[in-house]
Amino acid sequence: MTARLACRIALIPGDGIGREVIAEAVRVLTATGGVVLHELPWSADHYLQTGQTIPPDGYDVLRGFDAILVGALGDPRVPDNRHARDILLGTRFELDLFVNYRPVRLLDDRLCPLKGRTRADVDFVVFRENTEGMYVGIGGRFKPGTDDEVAVQEEINTYKGVHRIVRHAFDFARARGLRRVCMADKSNAMAHGHALWQRVFAAMRSDYPEIEATHLYIDALAMFLVQDPGRFQVIVTNNLFGDIVTDIGGALQGGLGMAASGNLHPGKTSMFEPVHGSAPPLAGKNIANPIGAILSAALMLETLGRPEDARRIEEAVESAVHDREVTRDIGGMLGTREAGQAIVARMK
Ligand code: NAD
Ligand code: IPM
Ligand code: MN
Repeated sequence: MTARLACRIALIPGDGIGREVIAEAVRVLTATGGVVLHELPWSADHYLQTGQTIPPDGYDVLRGFDAILVGALGDPRVPDNRHARDILLGTRFELDLFVNYRPVRLLDDRLCPLKGRTRADVDFVVFRENTEGMYVGIGGRFKPGTDDEVAVQEEINTYKGVHRIVRHAFDFARARGLRRVCMADKSNAMAHGHALWQRVFAAMRSDYPEIEATHLYIDALAMFLVQDPGRFQVIVTNNLFGDIVTDIGGALQGGLGMAASGNLHPGKTSMFEPVHGSAPPLAGKNIANPIGAILSAALMLETLGRPEDARRIEEAVESAVHDREVTRDIGGMLGTREAGQAIVARMK
């Protein structure tokens, strides 16, 4: 057997429950082996102490790692969310992590909030465009704080940006043998920007004759996700809509604490994080569910070419969920740390 090189991972635990769930992801990664972890202090605390959200060479520092694992960023003491914009959104933009990959998979029937639905009904992935749309921060406020205030927030859709995420969704479906891709937009109301999504999707679908390519307006998608999630295999949508529908996806899996994600640029340093935020009301109480963070670490290992290690983690999580060795939000009695330990104990 040839020795494999350890993966170098940057850790950004961040704020609130981000710190607690990342500690459990670290426990699992340490049990898996083959990783060298380097913790970065970037967070609300760090910003409030130093005045710096991310150092000037911060994105270059991140590019020097094989992958990045983030907890969550967001703190009421930073009301404009400046540090989260620089650290989280900044990394998505600067490292050009154009694919936000958010799998939605129910691990146990009892966790689904929908009446009569089972694991077979909740198993799809969302590809969220991750580098443009409403998130680019173009705009401004004129006469702020007055009754004459004008606030402009531009949505940017580029041919390159739309094309590459739609292409990625179709290629993923083909590679996995999936048969259905659904693109969701709001082209009935957003007649300029989303006409571009329509054009790209219509042109590309003929490259994938074996795949049933459908379109839904985003409002109808939200409705069908609740009414009949089993119809979906691959969903592709823009940055803001993808943000919103993946919280619905979190709920379908039993709660936000279950949902994992990867911010990817195939072949380059990518960033992994649970879908949830820093949940200030839960922070510091050892009650947050660490599974979203742990499954994000598994996604990271899979992306780094270690699918066997990813499967080991996923199987241990499924087994712990099945036996209710989990936190209270999903019907267990354990704290965050104990839930992480229970998963490690089940790793074969
Ligand atoms: P949130 O995801 O932090 O929490 C919403 C609710 O979901 C919580 O109150 C809790 O009921 C539940 N929840 C979330 N994670 C959980 C977990 N691991 N275990 C159990 N329950 C969990 O969303 P929010 O309250 O809207 O945002 C709080 C802060 O986090 C804000 O500053 C926001 O900007 C930020 N945020 C950051 C990220 C990120 O870093 N990726 C993502 C979302 C929100
Ligand atoms: C997410 C989060 C972020 C987003 C926030 C913290 C800016 O909600 O990763 O889903 O909207 O992308
Ligand atoms: Mn979100």
